[in-house]
Amino acid sequence: MHETSGTVIPAEKVTLQQKELWLKIEEFLGKKLIALEELLQDFTASDVAAMQEMMDHMIGNRGKRLRPILLFLCGSFNPDAVDDYVLLRAAAAVELIHSASLIHDDIIDGAEERRGKPALNVLWGNRPAVLAGDFLFARSFELVASCGNFELIKVLTRTVSIMCEGEIEQGGHVFNLHLTEQQYLHNIYRKTAALMEACCSAGASLAGLADDAVLLFKAYGRHLGLAFQITDDVLDITGKSSLIGKPVRSDLREGIITLPLIYLLEDPVWGSHLREVIEKRDFSSIALSFLDYPDCINGPVRRALARAAAYIDEAKACLSGLGNVLPVEILKNLADFVLEREY
Ligand code: IPE
Ligand code: IPE
Ligand code: MG
Ligand code: MG
Repeated sequence: MHETSGTVIPAEKVTLQQKELWLKIEEFLGKKLIALEELLQDFTASDVAAMQEMMDHMIGNRGKRLRPILLFLCGSFNPDAVDDYVLLRAAAAVELIHSASLIHDDIIDGAEERRGKPALNVLWGNRPAVLAGDFLFARSFELVASCGNFELIKVLTRTVSIMCEGEIEQGGHVFNLHLTEQQYLHNIYRKTAALMEACCSAGASLAGLADDAVLLFKAYGRHLGLAFQITDDVLDITGKSSLIGKPVRSDLREGIITLPLIYLLEDPVWGSHLREVIEKRDFSSIALSFLDYPDCINGPVRRALARAAAYIDEAKACLSGLGNVLPVEILKNLADFVLEREY
């Protein structure tokens, strides 16, 4: 990892184009991203040593910081109207919500790794990890409450409840071989896209934009989030664990039927093979090696990525009336990144 002033550029992972994107983000948001890290440190401080260690592990081992970046960018269109103090707090709050949801998600999924390191539940056990997630949710609400902005509190608390519904709903579909594309899309809206939608609409609202403009940013975030989860689900099958920082093919092992798997199940030959593997619950590497055959996996992966690409096009279309200013360019580049990402 090459650490820069505000965020982390995973140097070994990026293409030249992606490097340019992260540099553009840094150039545009540099100071805000530094202040974000400071606030995240402050608001995750604890006198209880084990809690502090868990916070250092989760907050110190940074991810892409995509959600606060979205909030900052969507909040940058009306610099005179925006209260930087509130914007910064909202950005930190969404990263804390995201971190809490990852901790709880890893407990639910029984995940071993997160961001290339052992997951919190592995290092400290499920009970402390549940409480670390609760602690982060509570701290995020404290941060938002301190702004006194009731609309922001309402949007973010509502979003957390939607994310919880998404996780419950996903649990109810485990090993459901009849899961439809529509059900899958509803689910990934709840578990992933709702938060990105909230980041974008909150940023735009805090910048004092008119309601119709806020709705466009909200739709950008929703489409971006849907595409983001689809590419995450593709990476779970075709990605490299050294890049995604978590073991591959864990969705299938946990019974999570993702879009590429839904498409694969439609194939007369490979689909019945997959059904058999699922019915036997044999998820050894050998049993799953059929997913390495290009004949088997290329079609469903291409189809899933085409679905993600359509969402990315919709996301970018939401920004079409905003001119050629730098934050618009970055939001469009971020949309392209979501489609091409390997991490
Ligand atoms: C991971 O999100 C969880 C999903 C919604 C798939 P990110 O890939 O944004 O996680 P970090 O914060 O960069 O690790
Ligand atoms: C996204 O789902 C998790 C959250 C929105 C919390 P996944 O279960 O696919 O995310 P990863 O693969 O664990 O990062
Ligand atoms: Mg998971
Ligand atoms: Mg996943």
